[in-house]
Amino acid sequence: MKSIEWIGAKVKIIDQTRLPMEEIYIETADHRVVAEAIRKLKIRGAPAIGIAAAFGFALGACEFHGEDKGKFHEHLARVKETLASTRPTAVNLFWALERMERVLQTYSSGSVGALKALLVEEAVRIQKEDVEKCRRIGEFGVQLVPEKAGILTHCNTGALATGDYGTAQSIITSAHVHGKQIRVYVDETRPLLQGARLTMWELSTLGIDATLITDNAAAFLMKKGFIHLVVVGADRIAKNGDVANKIGTYNLAVLAEKHRIPFYVAAPTSSIDFKIANGEAIPIEERDPSEITEAFGKRIAPRGVKVYSPAFDITPNELVTAIVTEMGVCRPPFSESIPALESAQETID
Ligand code: MRU
Repeated sequence: MKSIEWIGAKVKIIDQTRLPMEEIYIETADHRVVAEAIRKLKIRGAPAIGIAAAFGFALGACEFHGEDKGKFHEHLARVKETLASTRPTAVNLFWALERMERVLQTYSSGSVGALKALLVEEAVRIQKEDVEKCRRIGEFGVQLVPEKAGILTHCNTGALATGDYGTAQSIITSAHVHGKQIRVYVDETRPLLQGARLTMWELSTLGIDATLITDNAAAFLMKKGFIHLVVVGADRIAKNGDVANKIGTYNLAVLAEKHRIPFYVAAPTSSIDFKIANGEAIPIEERDPSEITEAFGKRIAPRGVKVYSPAFDITPNELVTAIVTEMGVCRPPFSESIPALESAQETID
């Protein structure tokens, strides 16, 4: 299952706001439609947002007519701005746009036509690489899963949220494929129900034993001994290992510590922001109040109530047992193991 694809000169996106009730696809050659799809969560999940931004940038390049390089660069600066202003927290979006811009710098002497082709190639490469990174996360992470484990997860971290396989969900799928007889508990993930709608849909399709729970049930399940590990994804990880992920993740980390349950984060290195020292510097998106005061178009709170709706929270690094990336399992102290990842990456580059 692909959440997003480059087909011919168009981008095809499965509209995640309509799942699981309807499978509706958006096909577009307009970067503004891609930007709107990111903003409205039609495409969502940090790595998938990165891929969408790269595809949007490539579409923007293809939209340009003429051979004037100066005007081409000005046009792409506007395209970048439109895509960068969609969602602030997932660093993959900015990481992907930087990669696209690097193509322009590296091949600065190329013609407009040649640059368009190179940008499309780079965007498709970003998606292919993400698929491979997610597959490797599953391979590394499977060692952390005991036989017959009860696993608690939050939000949606599956194929829909990535190039394929997922992040936290890649570990879950890998454990299932290895015959570990796991049982997965899925937080519904208020307010937009990515767990109930998307993760339950993906896990049922994969034939994995999954049970939907309300977000408030986690402590009770831990106390009863149902949960042996928590595994979640990340939207941005700071250099010290602080993790921004879907609101409610921090609650789970606190509860896991209280019940002495390991708390794992799974993410490709494109979700690590090596430029920021700690979670304080991560911008947290605030969502529209209507996402809380209404459910499926029906008002559920009195008119005019005050609402505060952060889409993400920050889990402090001391609550994180390990971070699984495509480069291996990263353990505390993260202020040493994360910079070591950065150095290893520079050696590969
Ligand atoms: O608001 P969303 O649905 O884009 O939030 C997604 C999450 O928080 C995921 O857990 C995160 O992106 C990691 S997914 C691979």
